[in-house]
Amino acid sequence: MVISFVLLCLMTNNLFAKNNSSPTSSIDAKVDSVMKLMTLKEKIGQLNQYASAWEMTGPAPENANSQKELEQIKSGMVGSMLNVTGAEATRKAQKLAVENSRLHIPMVFGYDVIHGYETMFPIPLGEAASWEPDLAEKTSSIAAKEASAAGIHWTFAPMVDISRDARWGRIMEGAGEDPYLGSQFAAARVKGFQGENLSDVNTVAACAKHFAAYGFVEAGRDYNTVDISDYTLNNVVLPPFKAAVDAGVASFMNAFNLIGGVPSTMNTYLLRDILKGKWQFGGMVVSDWNSVGEMVNHGVAADKAEAAKLAIEGGCDMDMEGRCYVDHLEQLVNDGVVDEKLIDDACARVLKMKFELGLFDDPYKYSNDEREKDDIMNPENLAVARESARKSFVLLKNESDILPLKKSGLSIAVMGELAEDKDSPLGSWRAKAIKNSAVSVIEGIKNLKGQQNDIQFTEGVRLIDGEKSFRSELTFNTTDSSGFEAAREMAKKSDVVVLALGENCFQTGEGRSQTNISLKGLQKQFFDQIYKVNPNIVVVLMNGRPVVLGDIADKAKAILEVWQPGSEAGNAIAEVLFGDYAPSGKLPVSFPLVNGQEPIYYNHMSTGRAKATEDVFWSHYTDASNEPLYPFGYGLSYTKFDYSDITLNKNQIKFGEPLRASVDVKNVGDREGTEVVQLYIHDLFASAARPVKELKGFKKVTIPAGESKTVSFTLTDKDLAFYNINKEWTAEPGDFKVFVGTNSRDVKEASFKLVK
Ligand code: NOJ
Repeated sequence: MVISFVLLCLMTNNLFAKNNSSPTSSIDAKVDSVMKLMTLKEKIGQLNQYASAWEMTGPAPENANSQKELEQIKSGMVGSMLNVTGAEATRKAQKLAVENSRLHIPMVFGYDVIHGYETMFPIPLGEAASWEPDLAEKTSSIAAKEASAAGIHWTFAPMVDISRDARWGRIMEGAGEDPYLGSQFAAARVKGFQGENLSDVNTVAACAKHFAAYGFVEAGRDYNTVDISDYTLNNVVLPPFKAAVDAGVASFMNAFNLIGGVPSTMNTYLLRDILKGKWQFGGMVVSDWNSVGEMVNHGVAADKAEAAKLAIEGGCDMDMEGRCYVDHLEQLVNDGVVDEKLIDDACARVLKMKFELGLFDDPYKYSNDEREKDDIMNPENLAVARESARKSFVLLKNESDILPLKKSGLSIAVMGELAEDKDSPLGSWRAKAIKNSAVSVIEGIKNLKGQQNDIQFTEGVRLIDGEKSFRSELTFNTTDSSGFEAAREMAKKSDVVVLALGENCFQTGEGRSQTNISLKGLQKQFFDQIYKVNPNIVVVLMNGRPVVLGDIADKAKAILEVWQPGSEAGNAIAEVLFGDYAPSGKLPVSFPLVNGQEPIYYNHMSTGRAKATEDVFWSHYTDASNEPLYPFGYGLSYTKFDYSDITLNKNQIKFGEPLRASVDVKNVGDREGTEVVQLYIHDLFASAARPVKELKGFKKVTIPAGESKTVSFTLTDKDLAFYNINKEWTAEPGDFKVFVGTNSRDVKEASFKLVK
């Protein structure tokens, strides 16, 4: 039976007319009506996702055969493609499916739109340093607008993996080490990408990834094993995923890793019991790149057929680049090995997303040449890129108030490969960012309005030799110091040296784990050489993960953490260096003092031997402090804030009753400033031990010089709840501490009780 696309739409629209009481049930009915027309083979086709051959974000599959794949698209055996981009290319690809396949079902096009499509915003870790989820909602909505104009329907973002180990290169893609902050950003990003209505042409379906615990790979090595307790999984890893579900996320992506020997891709506990069971998630789950096929490598499936069986049973709906479903599921169902109901459920979830996106109404609606011209990289988007960059910067040090720099009368030497790098600021996972399209540090300084200093530039130290790209390893310059001498001479004659240090953008991201997160190459040696002739060094730190700074942290006069700030990098950096904008970012992740401290995070448990003793028998290192260099939540401003003691409206609350904690924050400096006031709790005794501190609230306030603001937080038992020894989310009565302060270390403290 050949049914035209128009007829299919008419049928489904009729159903909609009859049953439009609730959009979800009407979509379910439409899905049903299409499914009734589908053969088993066609349903399996919907669960198959291929990458376009011209942009591979993973290893090329064995037996890839583009002619065969083209035929499969035409026969309805490809439900989705990733990495097809641009209005024209997506329209062409869509035509192949819609005009040739029997049921004319449109494909859904996915892409990694992580921190922008062509206009680049700060990497997600940097954006989280703004502690402003609304900002992430805004940048995600612009990313969605740009991507959807180029025919993309679905982004593989946000990555909501909590990560405590900076050796893991993908730490740059998430919101850092804290489940509360991570949850706020997860929800905001989902809302930003998806907007009010998925069928609006300027929104895309979001995808919470990687489910689950990918940020806990052993020793920070990518794709490695994860072995964490159910307690940590529920209390630390899952909250941002739950927040994404609550925000209405359309899809989930599996993680590559095992947990306790079970690949996430076939993990029924995660996918069936928690996600589709307890959380009632009605959307679809896509595997990660060949994560179904990799179950053979993990040693749980004998071959791809068994991998397909285990993954579909586990709850993975779509097979990305694995070719396991398309090659084996039909036979498995026909042999009675796999229940067809599982295929039906997975297919229904995929079709539902396509209906929600409006693809059955018009499969080409997102492939719009006009919008592609107007909506991408326009001045409004760039203005938001600049705003988000400024807000992501964290001032780590500012001795003798060397910053902000005066706009005239100074001779300033700007140095370091990263200071003229127009590519690294774009970060890794940069979608369609144009190579070398960022404003560099030196350009930004020269562009800055009113800036009249004498500015000189020399590279001084080269960081990378050879190719810098998404798919290849980097080679660091460890031998060539030929630029040192000229730089020293320039530094001698300058009042201030602005030295850009850090990481190339391809040092972080997928497959970029490091055992050593100290500054690479000759950067440290270069710093020391310059320091000898001019100690007035302002370090602009550009990196995708926390780095170990060694004595640079002591010697530099100022350190401004700028992460990889996106398209408007240099302009935003100059505005902050010269005081047009005061930094207000706070670290979403701890900065270790030395490499061996990793993983290091503020919300750890207390050991049984936490207090220092005279002897050696307490929990410590014999060669370094336990404390990080900069703690979670840390960040300075160009002014100073004083915190009053905490006022509690009660010393005791019952379940359901609110507790109000307030502090007065006074700006004691002489310029306006913005502060992120942070609230933490500690549950002193519980059925299972609780972290020494847990973030439970924050407020970003702008306070004029000399003025005070009262900042209040409300807590109820819901904020005190955790996944306890009985596997229940509940608060337990008892004693609590509440802390309020400028970071996770420097806090005021009060106590209260929770009673029945
Ligand atoms: C593998 C990555 O782990 C995932 O995050 C990404 O979305 C896919 N490749 C597609 O590029």
